[in-house]
Amino acid sequence: MPELSDYRELGKRSAAYKAAEFVETGMTVGLGSGSTVYYAVARLGELASEGLKITCVSTSAATTRLALDCGLDLTGLDEITSIDLTIDGADEIDSNLNGIKGGGGALLFEKIVALFSKKNIWIADSSKLVDVLGKFPLPVEVVPFGYKRVFSILELMKLNPVMREKEEAYYLTDSRNFIIDLHAGKISDPEGLDREIKLISGVVETGIFFNIADSAVIADGDAVTILDKH
Ligand code: 5RP
Repeated sequence: MPELSDYRELGKRSAAYKAAEFVETGMTVGLGSGSTVYYAVARLGELASEGLKITCVSTSAATTRLALDCGLDLTGLDEITSIDLTIDGADEIDSNLNGIKGGGGALLFEKIVALFSKKNIWIADSSKLVDVLGKFPLPVEVVPFGYKRVFSILELMKLNPVMREKEEAYYLTDSRNFIIDLHAGKISDPEGLDREIKLISGVVETGIFFNIADSAVIADGDAVTILDKH
């Protein structure tokens, strides 16, 4: 359980609890990943113990473990035909509700689940709001086979790639792929950059989430604002 005395933690929890209010009995709910989603999963677990009946789809091994610990029912993506609502975090969110995700490395499953969802709500503390995406390094998931070639192309594109590492080895996603973090600077055309990067063979997915979120629940401490896509 994170230390709630931290103002940002309070923001994360406030946003997560507000988003949980949109969940109703009978829904299939996508569960994102990360430290903000932690609070949403914990809250949904509490609500489930009080009678809320939902079926959840997880986006990462970590969220699966947490959801099971919280007593939530899980199903696989291929067992269902759609997801009613997905609640997920983000690393950066702009005023058009486009975002960068994947700081926690779960971008691939998060994007698949998001695209399967009728509604996507992002939850974040207010530090995640930006005018232009790109201060946060943009994660790109790549297959290990031939990753150096992909890395070189990203260098030629002047996107300043850096291999993500963990414990002195390359970081591995749940799909056992690598992550290359791009220090690209301001991203003025997120849709175009996403398309361009995905044209490189070996790239599985990027952390640019363009036109995916329907709403963002943003909290500054316990003051919550809901932004809707216009
Ligand atoms: C994981 C993600 C997370 O949603 C994102 O990194 C935000 O995480 P946190 O809530 O811990 O700041 O995209 O792949």
